[in-house]
Amino acid sequence: MDLFEYQARDLFEAYGVPVLAGRIADTPEEAEQAAKEIGGTVVIKAQVKTGGRGKAGGVKLAHNPQEARERAEEILGLDIKGHVVKRVMIAQGAQIDKEFYFSVLLDRSNRTFLSLCSVEGGVEIEQLAVERPDALAKVPISAVSGIDKAKALEIAKQAGFPAELQDKVSDVFVKLYEVFTKEDATLVEVNPLVLTADSDIIALDGKVSLDDNAEFRHEREEMERDQLDPLEAKAQALDLNYVKLDGEVGIIGNGAGLVMSTLDVVAYAGERHGSVKPANFLDIGGGASAEVMAAGLDVILNDPQVKSVFVNVFGGITACDAVANGIVGALNTLGDKASKPLVVRLDGNNVDQGRAILADYAHPLVTLAETMDGGADEAAKLANR
Ligand SMILES: Nc1ncnc2c1ncn2[C@@H]1O[C@H](COP(=O)(O)OP(=O)(O)OP(=O)(O)O)[C@@H](O)[C@H]1O
Ligand SMILES: [Mg+2]
Repeated sequence: MDLFEYQARDLFEAYGVPVLAGRIADTPEEAEQAAKEIGGTVVIKAQVKTGGRGKAGGVKLAHNPQEARERAEEILGLDIKGHVVKRVMIAQGAQIDKEFYFSVLLDRSNRTFLSLCSVEGGVEIEQLAVERPDALAKVPISAVSGIDKAKALEIAKQAGFPAELQDKVSDVFVKLYEVFTKEDATLVEVNPLVLTADSDIIALDGKVSLDDNAEFRHEREEMERDQLDPLEAKAQALDLNYVKLDGEVGIIGNGAGLVMSTLDVVAYAGERHGSVKPANFLDIGGGASAEVMAAGLDVILNDPQVKSVFVNVFGGITACDAVANGIVGALNTLGDKASKPLVVRLDGNNVDQGRAILADYAHPLVTLAETMDGGADEAAKLANR
C-alpha cells in the first residue's frame, strides 16, 4: 500500500520525525478554513500518488486564507500524470534554507535494505541520480543492526552534510528508520528534508510504501478506507478483483493471466488508435455468472474515463454459452446504464453456442470479435472515437 503524503506526514509525526502542521481539504472552503487554523503562509499540495507534483502545478504557496481557497480551487480537479486531484493538504509554510534527500528502502536485488541520501535534494533529484550518481550516497543497511546513531552519522558524512549538521540530521535518520521497520515499510522517502532559516531540520514531503504482507500486524482499516478510489471501493464491496488504471478501454476477463495479457494487447493496439490505454484490470474469475458479469460491467461503465469495453473470456469449466448468458443477463440488468460499446471475444469450451447466443441477442452496442488481437483492435478503435 502506497500512502498519500498526508498519511506519511501523520506517521512521521507519531514517531517524532519533525514535520510541519498539515490538514487535508476536499473543497476550496475547507482549504480556506484549514489555512485560517494554521495561520500565516501555507502551501497547498495536491494529494496524488505520483512524483513531480510541484512541477505539474500541484504545489502552490498561499499568503492568506483567501489565497489558499483560490489555489485549492486551481489544484482540485487538476490531472497530474493521469491522477485527478480530489484532496489537497494545507501545510504550514517553511522558510527553506537548503533541501536534502533521504530514503531507506528494500533493495531486493541485493537482499538487504539500502539508504540513499544527498545534500542536493528537491524536485531535481531524479535528474541528479542520472547525471551525477556520485552525489547520491548509497549505503547498504543491515536488517539486523539497522540505522543506529553511528550508521546515521555514516550516512550523513557520505552524503556530504557539513560537520555542524551531521548530528542533527542523523537523529532524524534514526527516527525515519524506526518508521521503516516498526511500520513494515518497503520505502520511506523524504524529499525534501529541509534546513529552515531557524536552523531546524524538517521533513517537508514524505513517500511511504507499506508491505501488504505484514498487514495483519497493524491496525490500518481507516488508512485503507482513505486509500481506495470510489470505483475500487465499490468493486471491493462486490468481491471483484479490480484495479483502476488511467486509460479509456475497460477490460473484463477471466483469470489473472488472461486479463494481464489482455491489458498488453489493448495497450499495443492502442498505439494505432490515438494512444488509448486500458482503463482497468478486472478478473471475474472462473465463475463468470450473470451476476458477476453485471457487477463487473456496472463498475467499469461507471468509470467516466471508459469509452469502450473489451470482454475477453476463455471458456473452461464455465463454458462460453454460460458466459454469453451472463453478458445478456448483465445487459438486461443494466438497461440504459449500459451506454458504451462492448467488444466481446469468446473462445474455448462451447464457443459456437456462446457466440450464437450473443448473435441472436443482437444488442446494438455489442460487437463480436473472432480473435483476441482483433477484439483489442476494435475496442481501441471504438475508444478513440
Ligand atoms: N511546507 C512547505 N513550505 C515551503 N515550501 C514547500 C513546502 N512544501 C513543499 N515546498 C516546496 O515545494 C517543492 C515541492 O514539494 P514536494 O517535494 O512536496 O513536491 P513533489 O512535487 O512531490 O516533489 P517530488 O515528487 O520531486 O518529491 C519542495 O521541494 C519545496 O521547495
Ligand atoms: Mg517531494
